[in-house]
Amino acid sequence: MPAGGACGTQANNAVCAAGLCCSDSGVCGTGGAFCTAPACQISAGPACDGNQTPKGADTSKVPRPLFGSIPYGVDISHCTVNGKVALTFDDGPYLYTAALLDILRSNNVTATFFVVGNNGAKGMINDPATGYPAVLQRMVADGHQIGSHTWSHQDLSALTSQQRHDQIVKNEIAIADVIGVIPTYLRPPYTRWNQDALNDLKALGYHVLNYDIDTRDWQGNYTVAESIYSSILSQHSPTSSAWISLEHDIYNTTVHVFAQYIIDQARKLGYQLVTVGECLADPVSNWYRNVTTGQPASPVVGAAVANAGGGQTTSASVTTSHTTTRSKTTTTIGSFPSAIAQQNQTVYSCLHKVARLYY
Ligand SMILES: *[C@@H]1O[C@H](CO)[C@@H](O)[C@H](O)[C@H]1NC(C)=O
Ligand SMILES: *[C@@H]1O[C@H](CO)[C@@H](O)[C@H](O)[C@H]1NC(C)=O
Ligand SMILES: *[C@@H]1O[C@H](CO)[C@@H](O)[C@H](O)[C@H]1NC(C)=O
Ligand SMILES: *[C@@H]1O[C@H](CO)[C@@H](O)[C@H](O)[C@H]1NC(C)=O
Ligand SMILES: *[C@@H]1O[C@H](CO)[C@@H](O)[C@H](O)[C@H]1NC(C)=O
Ligand SMILES: [Zn+2]
Repeated sequence: MPAGGACGTQANNAVCAAGLCCSDSGVCGTGGAFCTAPACQISAGPACDGNQTPKGADTSKVPRPLFGSIPYGVDISHCTVNGKVALTFDDGPYLYTAALLDILRSNNVTATFFVVGNNGAKGMINDPATGYPAVLQRMVADGHQIGSHTWSHQDLSALTSQQRHDQIVKNEIAIADVIGVIPTYLRPPYTRWNQDALNDLKALGYHVLNYDIDTRDWQGNYTVAESIYSSILSQHSPTSSAWISLEHDIYNTTVHVFAQYIIDQARKLGYQLVTVGECLADPVSNWYRNVTTGQPASPVVGAAVANAGGGQTTSASVTTSHTTTRSKTTTTIGSFPSAIAQQNQTVYSCLHKVARLYY
């Protein structure tokens, strides 16, 4: 279909011509309103952000031995080490992630980030121009765990096996390009899957990480989010319970207000904040896989990885521009976190409308 033509699920799965995206509402076109993931329909829009390929070595042939004692390809919703709470932040890195790393560091807290490779018009996470390689490197340097949340946040149960493979492997390529290894933990977008997806995830060597506290921070009512979190923790004892809590670093309030709250509450109630691997008693070496051997490996921190983007270790020194091709000309909307206020509000609220589509 040409630009302006009907496409996707709204039009008998008609596919747009090369170079075009198929918008959420089923129209072929170019630019952010059509191409931004996760809304762009990847089966019908060849140029969707979700169909872009990151630079970096192909990981599809990496051996996938299933090492360690944590099961692969099955739903893991609960931690096993009592007294622990694993905070998990999905859908980033994004504008607020560096600020979140500051907050976690000042609280001496480690957490887990389920990162998406190319969503919300943020650019590819291994593109130095986005600043995100430095953010991922800092996660590793600060002791956090990085898991995959796929390349462009599609519903894995709605994809073909080939598309699932593509969504998982593309994110690996980008992650390995920055930290030298691929993760063994993955959270399926929308926490949605079917048995075929689980089989594919097992074949690719992934632990499938669910959660048992859903703060619903993405809905934007933090009174509700605080109450969900606190009531679950306070109704149980750290001597006999452990939790995996879901939140999202793509929301400013989650980062600047809610993060401190969930840290303080967990500690007040006697829980210790750890990564997902730690709350499952999985040794740190098992959290990632060597891209040559497929064996347990540690991420490479710093200059060893070409794309680290300068290896900044504090957000204060991260001066990153965030670009979008939403309008005809590429708009640079500031550096974060200090210049967030200078962002083009039109673009900003547009991104948030898109961001609402995923959790
Ligand atoms: C920071 O946390 C680690 C791991 O929980 C702990 O061993 C260390 O004592 C803490 N440091 C401070 C300054 O609280
Ligand atoms: C948040 O939810 C509570 C409980 O449902 C409700 O009373 C309150 O008005 C909501 N706040 C906002 C800002 O929507
Ligand atoms: C993010 O939240 C902080 C604290 O509430 C606020 O000062 C800042 O202006 C917010 N930034 C944006 C872009 O909304
Ligand atoms: C991966 O394994 C290869 C071969 O043993 C080794 O040369 C390389 O340093 C390893 N990389 C990492 C990140 O452990
Ligand atoms: C923000 O973007 C809109 C749409 O592209 C444009 O019309 C407007 O001039 C921009 N505003 C600023 C302050 O850059
Ligand atoms: Zn998500």
